[in-house]
Amino acid sequence: MTNQKRQIALLTGGGDCAGLNAVIRAVVKTATIEYQWDVLGIENGFEGLILPGKVRKLSIEDVRGILPRGGTILGTTNRANPFAYEEVLPNGEVKITDRSDDVLKRLDELNIDGLIVIGGDGSLHITHELIQKGLHAVGVPKTIDNDIQGTQITFGFDTALNTAMEALDKLQTTAESHHRVLILEVMGRNTGWIALKAGIAGGANVILIPEIPFTLQEVANKVNERRQENAKFSLIVVAEGAKPVGGSQVYQEMYASTGMRRLGGIGAVIESGLSQLIENEIRVTVLGHLQRGGSPTAFDRLLASRYGCMAVRLVAERKFGQMVALRDDQIISIPISEAVASQKFVPLNTDIIATALSLNISLGNTRQEIESMMG
Ligand code: F6P
Repeated sequence: MTNQKRQIALLTGGGDCAGLNAVIRAVVKTATIEYQWDVLGIENGFEGLILPGKVRKLSIEDVRGILPRGGTILGTTNRANPFAYEEVLPNGEVKITDRSDDVLKRLDELNIDGLIVIGGDGSLHITHELIQKGLHAVGVPKTIDNDIQGTQITFGFDTALNTAMEALDKLQTTAESHHRVLILEVMGRNTGWIALKAGIAGGANVILIPEIPFTLQEVANKVNERRQENAKFSLIVVAEGAKPVGGSQVYQEMYASTGMRRLGGIGAVIESGLSQLIENEIRVTVLGHLQRGGSPTAFDRLLASRYGCMAVRLVAERKFGQMVALRDDQIISIPISEAVASQKFVPLNTDIIATALSLNISLGNTRQEIESMMG
C-alpha cells in the first residue's frame, strides 16, 4: 500500500443499473481512507470530459447514504462516444466528430493519475480504445444484461433478474384468473440471461432467448399442450433480442454515434403471430426500464462494493488496462481487451438449459433442434 498523495477520477457510462452508487461509494471510501487520495467524479460518462463544468470532487460526505440508492449520483449517458461525438448544430444537423484527444487532454489538465470507468460493453470499448492512445484506466463491469465476457456476473444483473421474476409472479395470478397467455418482454440486448434465469425463477412455461431461435408453432404447441392438461393459462418470457428461425431481431431505433440499434417490440410481434395459432386471449407486458431502476439487491450491493474496492487497488498497483471480474466467488482482474473481445452469450451446453428442459419449459424449438445446437 502507498500513502503517496494522488488524484483519481471515476465516471459511470452507458445505461444505468442498480449498484452504480454502491461502486462509487466503495471507490471514494477506499481511495480516501485507505490511500488518502483525492477523487474527482465526472458527470454523464465521457461527455463530462468533453463539456465544461462537469467535474467535481467527491468526498466521504458526498457518498454517505447512497449505498441503497438506484441510479448514479454522477449521471450517465449511452450517447457520448468521444470517438464519434454527436453535436446538434443550430440548423438542426447532427455533426459527428472525434473528440478522443480532448478527453485525454482534459484528464491531463486535471492531473488525473488513474480513471475508473464503471460501464458496460460500450463504455468498456471506448476505454479500451482510449487506453491504446495512452489513457491510464481500469474498468468495472456494469450492466443488467450480464453480457460482459470474462466475469461470471456483472453488477445490476441480479436486481434486474429479481424485478423480472416479481413481474412474472404478478402476471401469473392475472393470467390464471383470465385463462390468458401473458407475454413478458424483458431486456438483455443480444443475450438471454435475464429471460432465462427470471423465466425459471418465475415459473414461465415458455422462455425465448436470442441464443435459441424459436418457431411460433413450437410456442403454440406448448400453450395447447397445457390447455389439454387443463392448465388454461401460460406465461411466456421473451428476451428483447430473441428472433424466429430464419427471421431477425425487432428494433425501435438506432443511435447515430455508436451505430447501435435499440431493441424492442418482439413481444407484440409474437402476440400477433401466436393469435392465429391458439384460442387463448393474449396480452403483452414490456418490462422496460423498471429493470434498470430501484434499490440494488444484497447480492448487487456486495458485488458492487467488492468491485469498487478492487478497482482502487488496481489503480494503486498501476494495473491499468485491467477490469475487475468475478470468478469462483473471488474478485480478480482481467485485461479489458479480453472483456470487449466478444459478448458473453448464454452457453447452451450447461445445466441451466438442462434445468429448463427438465422442468418441461419450452425454449421455443424442438428438443432435438436444441440438442443439436448444444453440439
Ligand atoms: O444495456 C442495458 C439496456 O437496458 C439493454 O438491456 C437495452 O437494450 C438498452 O440498455 C436500452 O437502452 P436505453 O436506455 O437507451 O433505452
